[in-house]
Amino acid sequence: MALVTTKEMFKKAYDGGYAIGAFNVNNMEIVQGITAAANELRAPLILQVSKGARAYASHTYLMKLVEAAVIETGLPIALHLDHGDSFELCKSCIDGGFTSVMIDASSKPFEENVAITRQVVEYAHDHGVVVEAELGTLAGIEDEVKVAHGDASYTRPEEVQELVERTGCDSLAIAIGTSHGAYKFKPGTKPQLRFDVLEAVEKNLPGFPIVLHGSSSVPQQFVDEINKYGGSMPGAIGVPEDQLRQAAKSAVCKINIDSDLRLAMTATIRKYFAEHPADFDPRQYLKPAREAIKQMVAHKIVDVLGCDGQAD
Ligand code: G3H
Ligand code: 13P
Ligand code: ZN
Repeated sequence: MALVTTKEMFKKAYDGGYAIGAFNVNNMEIVQGITAAANELRAPLILQVSKGARAYASHTYLMKLVEAAVIETGLPIALHLDHGDSFELCKSCIDGGFTSVMIDASSKPFEENVAITRQVVEYAHDHGVVVEAELGTLAGIEDEVKVAHGDASYTRPEEVQELVERTGCDSLAIAIGTSHGAYKFKPGTKPQLRFDVLEAVEKNLPGFPIVLHGSSSVPQQFVDEINKYGGSMPGAIGVPEDQLRQAAKSAVCKINIDSDLRLAMTATIRKYFAEHPADFDPRQYLKPAREAIKQMVAHKIVDVLGCDGQAD
């Protein structure tokens, strides 16, 4: 089995009323933790690489780690560029073997978004690669771009059909109230995704796969552990998992999760050092961190995404 595109995965997910997890990878332990969970549960998988991850670990290392995951598991795995911000970056990932890219021109005016997305789609499709576009702006932090909550904007359902038709993109990320990072909602407010916006989008794009970014749920257990062992994360709040579960049953076929893996990894390492202050062998603290990622991903697959058993 080689790396796959998301085409078949999304068709099955749309028809089956579940979503595929798209998890960000930055190093070997993260790749191993995610794929161990997916393999045990026989879940299809999207492993995604941000511009920052590529700068940190290098294209070739990440590519080879993901190829190793395919060899070890035989799972259908797509390797996706997360938040590509230029044609050149998308092209480089397509030329370098990724099977899916996102061109994120959502902060640009509509016509510019259409033009750059169209350019990426033409190159990608010529090379057998699929493209995720975005319409609407999420709040939060991704790479160097920080969008304040006040500057975020929900997707306008009346624009989605035109963007998809004029660009030929294969999936569309929309903004319905999720946001990047661990501080998604104001403390004291009740997190509520805009399902009315999602429904209107679905109506205008029947059968078309929708993507949700910023979908970590920021489990309190890990925030508490980070704070207990020397960290300081007051007011960290995520998307309630019951709302993500509801979304996974709809046209949403891809749900992006990164922060929850970071929280699980960091909380576990902080705890490890607090309990083993004399240890200095990286394997000793990375092993439980990798296991925490595996547990987190297994929980997402079974309790949020519903994609367990869908790999074969
Ligand atoms: O949406 C952004 C992802 O969480 C990737 O984050 O740009 O810090 O790698 P990063
Ligand atoms: P979180 O920060 O909620 O994990 O979102 C990740 C994401 O959207 C990656 O593109
Ligand atoms: Zn994102």
